[in-house]
Amino acid sequence: MKVLFLSPDYPAEMRGFTRGLAEVGAQVIGVGDRPRDQLSPDVRDHLAAYLQVQSIVDEQRVMAQILPELHKIGGVDRVETLWEPLVMLAARLREQLGAPGMGTEQAIGFRDKSVMKDRVRKAGLRVPKFAQVSSASAALAAARTIGYPVVIKPIAGAGTADTHGVRSEGELRAVLETIGHVQTASVEEYIDGEEFTYDAVSIAGKPVFESVAQYHPRPLESRNNEWISPAQIVLRDPYIAAVAGGVELGRGVLRALGMDTGFTHMEWFKKSNGEVVFGEIAARSPGAKLVDQMNYANDFDIYREWARSVCWQHFEATAARRYHVATVFKRAKGRGRISGVEGMSALRRLCGPRLVEEAILPIGHPRRNWRQTLLSDGYVVMRDPDYSQCLEMMQAAVSGVQIFAE
Ligand SMILES: Nc1ncnc2c1ncn2[C@@H]1O[C@H](COP(=O)(O)OP(=O)(O)O)[C@@H](O)[C@H]1O
Ligand SMILES: [Mg+2]
Repeated sequence: MKVLFLSPDYPAEMRGFTRGLAEVGAQVIGVGDRPRDQLSPDVRDHLAAYLQVQSIVDEQRVMAQILPELHKIGGVDRVETLWEPLVMLAARLREQLGAPGMGTEQAIGFRDKSVMKDRVRKAGLRVPKFAQVSSASAALAAARTIGYPVVIKPIAGAGTADTHGVRSEGELRAVLETIGHVQTASVEEYIDGEEFTYDAVSIAGKPVFESVAQYHPRPLESRNNEWISPAQIVLRDPYIAAVAGGVELGRGVLRALGMDTGFTHMEWFKKSNGEVVFGEIAARSPGAKLVDQMNYANDFDIYREWARSVCWQHFEATAARRYHVATVFKRAKGRGRISGVEGMSALRRLCGPRLVEEAILPIGHPRRNWRQTLLSDGYVVMRDPDYSQCLEMMQAAVSGVQIFAE
């Protein structure tokens, strides 16, 4: 089983998936733009081969560079990636190499937000009203038709970069000035409600593991307000009435988009009247600790089970569904370098062994760019079988832990 794995070392959680592939018996051929000797040692140890390319996001050049190499070794059995910018490249390579899995026609439904929503809506599922626009005047006209408030975002976005909620034409005009670099954008009906994920590992289109998480607060707010500590809770068990509509929507979306085998990460809204609305979906694992949270919730190794699913069409582990798991990301107050941390001792006392991970930047470390990385200046992960206990720990970390910089 030869698996071509694009970007085996970045983002950080890819290291776990590289390990998983090797552990289920795959010969992993990594492709990336870091020199081999700069890969993290645990990735290097799990690679059978590594093809270094000039720029991993330059599709044409990557294809030109690696296809001859791959033909020389008789092709590969699978082409995988779990990093959003490479989803189309992986699909193209599958087509070129005759490897099974999603081709470009399916993959585009997970990448282009307008194609995505068209396909989901045509399947009879609820999506926000939207229009694809490529000029400021078209954006203004679309917003007038849809009605304020609206959301405007790039077509191929990730991580809430350049996504804005606007309440009036004046606000929209101001935003349009700042996003001149975005070629095509989506203008959408603003959905007011709670926001959740529906994450799944599927085999031949059938979800074999499902997980639901809730964002506290919604990413649109936490990504635009530095003072907020973004938090998220992976629910112990997604098969509860409160999120049943989201799970059902998720399954419908996977069918509508022709999901094959692998990880997907969907976001959805629940309005105060209970209505469930589609947000977006990606053909990859979720970022920002959600994969680890699934492991903490279930006491299994989802990295390896994803690998087993893509290599052998088999998901072996049983999800224990034992804990609700919260992650809280902390942003320092002030600029420059970390100068102090408060509240960790109290949090440790409150949580005891339920605090399963803490990773606050050390004193003296430069602050991270909070707009670019959700990991921010540190995070804590906590778990408890009881939801209200988990919520209490989450709130304690949100309000009681403070990082300072100067
Ligand atoms: N139609 C909408 N109504 C309300 N909020 C939205 C809408 N679309 C996006 N958002 C908010 O913006 C965030 C980012 O949008 P999303 O479509 O997920 O883009 P990205 O690819 O950047 O994650 C969402 O998590 C949600 O909080
Ligand atoms: Mg999103």
